[in-house]
Amino acid sequence: MKFGYFDDEQRVYVITRPDTPLPWINYLGCEEYFGIISNTAGGYSFYKDARLRRLTRYRYNNAPLDSGGRYIYLRDEDSSPPRFWSPTWQPTRTSLDEYECRHGMGYTTIHSALAGIRADIRYFIPLGENLEIWELRLTNQRPQEANLSIFATVEFCLWDAMDDATNFQRNYSVGEVEVVDEVIYHKTEYRERRNHFAFLACSERLAGFDTDREAFLGSYRGWDSPAGVESGTLTNSIAHGWQPIGAQHIRLSLKAGEQRTIIFLLGYHENPADTKFDPPGSQNVDKRTVLPIIQRYRNADEAQAAFEKLQAYWHGLLDTLQVVTPDIHTNRMMNTWNVCQLMATFNFSRSASYFESGIGRGMGFRDSNQDLLGFMHLMPGRARQRILDLAATQLPNGGAYHQFQPLTKRGNNEVGSGFNDDPLWLVLSVAAYIKETGDWSILDESVPYDNLPGSEDSLYGHLQRSMQYTLVRLGPHGLPLIGHADWNDCLNLNCFSEAPGQSFQTTTNKDGKVAESVFIAGLFIMAAGEMEEITRRKEADQAAEVYQLAAKEMENAVWEAGWDGAWFRRAYDDFGEPVGSGKCAEGQIFIEPQGMCVMAGLGIMDGRARQALDSVAERLATPHGIMLHQPGYTRYYLHLGEISSYPPGYKENGSVFCHTNPWIMIAETRLGNGSMAHDYYLRINPSKREDISEVHRCEPYVYAQMIAGREAPSYGEAKNSWLTGTAAWNYLAISQWILGIRPEFDGLRLDPCIPPEWEGFTVERSFRGCRLDITVHNPQHVSRGVVRMDLDGVRVEGNLLVLDGSQRKHQVEVWMGE
Ligand code: GLC
Ligand code: GLC
Repeated sequence: MKFGYFDDEQRVYVITRPDTPLPWINYLGCEEYFGIISNTAGGYSFYKDARLRRLTRYRYNNAPLDSGGRYIYLRDEDSSPPRFWSPTWQPTRTSLDEYECRHGMGYTTIHSALAGIRADIRYFIPLGENLEIWELRLTNQRPQEANLSIFATVEFCLWDAMDDATNFQRNYSVGEVEVVDEVIYHKTEYRERRNHFAFLACSERLAGFDTDREAFLGSYRGWDSPAGVESGTLTNSIAHGWQPIGAQHIRLSLKAGEQRTIIFLLGYHENPADTKFDPPGSQNVDKRTVLPIIQRYRNADEAQAAFEKLQAYWHGLLDTLQVVTPDIHTNRMMNTWNVCQLMATFNFSRSASYFESGIGRGMGFRDSNQDLLGFMHLMPGRARQRILDLAATQLPNGGAYHQFQPLTKRGNNEVGSGFNDDPLWLVLSVAAYIKETGDWSILDESVPYDNLPGSEDSLYGHLQRSMQYTLVRLGPHGLPLIGHADWNDCLNLNCFSEAPGQSFQTTTNKDGKVAESVFIAGLFIMAAGEMEEITRRKEADQAAEVYQLAAKEMENAVWEAGWDGAWFRRAYDDFGEPVGSGKCAEGQIFIEPQGMCVMAGLGIMDGRARQALDSVAERLATPHGIMLHQPGYTRYYLHLGEISSYPPGYKENGSVFCHTNPWIMIAETRLGNGSMAHDYYLRINPSKREDISEVHRCEPYVYAQMIAGREAPSYGEAKNSWLTGTAAWNYLAISQWILGIRPEFDGLRLDPCIPPEWEGFTVERSFRGCRLDITVHNPQHVSRGVVRMDLDGVRVEGNLLVLDGSQRKHQVEVWMGE
């Protein structure tokens, strides 16, 4: 069953009914001001940091679902008694004659019609501005004049979303607003240390406003039946404490067939600390720098121009890499939605989505490094800066804070450090950056540790410490010690927690000198391969050998202790017993080490990689994707931690944790099996799953973190859409390994590994300042193998494209075959 459809031409997903199984969201903004918006206008806005600088309130996990948003009400003054409704369906949930939501690149439109009044609302954030535009176009489709009232509302958040949701004894007394010339300014705490405020403005004269929530809603009433809308008159209330809101009332008469556009602006503004007040010495917000901005975007032509600029910007981004393959689901994700999701994961890591409250987590160190892997070609400049920001939170011992706050760019100690895989991901992101851009200078950037002045080291030095961090933390089998956890945050082998509510990630009851991770071993070998190549080019062969040797030794340790006979083991627990072994009662085989070790190149020549992947196919693969491990843990194991806290089939306990699936896809391409790789992809591809939206339930246009595994009662149901490393890894798996267009240090490798039935495909891609138009032919229907490559009509040796930069545009033709 479907709830909408893809409009590929327009690059939008069209939702045709408002009651989707879950709110299906989109993100607004791509620079500093952001918003989440659902298909019924739910969601909230923030500046840079969803926790520390939140503009509007949202009530997670509420009934009804998706409470709090950018709500507009229409009131029909000609009906008696006057009826009112939400043209976005929520919050009144009045049944509409027409409804359609279109989520596009950086914007969302909601269209509806009721009783001859058509409303089209477009929500977006102009580039370079810290404000959002809600553009409401009303059309009177009645044969006679229509008299309407329009109300536009937001509920302000008192900036720190955590404090806002918990510290009521203070917050009920601090709220402050100002209303001047019909603009509502939310200025809580502006009197003291803040120099920022929010504003709500409109292109029309107001018939009235409210800024006090109770005045607007009426006591004990909700957003579905505001007293102010019901009565048709707002009271011009000024909030003192309690809950400041912005509610604007406009009256309008539309002739038969007449159309009018009204613009609402919600924004964020900062004043210099020394010119906060006007006049100086007063408590009035100095509005001299904000008013010109408000003035500008009140104008419909300016708003339209800003929208067109935003679209051009997105098209430019998407153009960076476009593909045409025989599979529509692959094309649509690669050309549009996967890129949109890459932008979201780059900006928010795992912080703010319908499932991530924006409060609990900052940006993850390992997460952001992985998110970068698919992002480099889109905005190399911002990727570079992010890498340097991440490196600046690295600790002097080479380890890393597990998270950092985007507003302050400081490591956040809430989950501490000691996740022993963390530092290695930095090596992968830096390597990917250099491969994409050829910009070796990043290695010489001077970056502090833990943001401490005086601790500066080159980025290259940071990478060396990342590697060293693993090498000085080896366990009894010569495998890396796991610390609090590795990629699987919930495999807590040193935790042994018996107290309810204790954090599995920070509690440690063991000295951590026994439990080891085979996964980190694979990751280390992969990182060592990158370091070897980097060092060879930066220093000399001899220096590079260190990494070659270290990788070799690690590989030996894996074969000694990490191989279970038909697959890689997962870890060793604190008793020195294997995890992910045929010997275990539950959790006998895990996906992570199969993916990571084969990606790192282990067992490719001697058949053991094939054996491992066959074990995955046999024991872990389902029609809904590949599960994390099997069998799932049916009870809580003190020595395994959070992984066994989830019922089997959910989350880290044996769900299809989608992030890991592309590892297996890449691993399959390493063995030349394009069919299998692509087949695995389609199982978790949301567009392919669109037809079973009633089962999948999350958005059909973005990947979800998890799909419930075979052991779960809700097998096949997705959760935690949008913010997942699945976006970067799938993008990488498709573009670089299946289509095989893969940046390397010295050029662009063309090494497709596709389903043999494909006749070929084309890719347009920017690479190091050049534009490549690549056509791949597969006349012999092979899965892999390049027999000929032509660059601008001239045959070249091998399949590595080295461009000398003399020309901007190139035609590349590739013939696959035996
Ligand atoms: C979440 C975390 C990520 C972790 C994964 C598996 O997605 O953000 O860091 O690797 O779960 O536990
Ligand atoms: C991972 C898991 C999540 C868990 C968290 C702890 O990200 O996905 O369920 O609570 O780790 O930080």
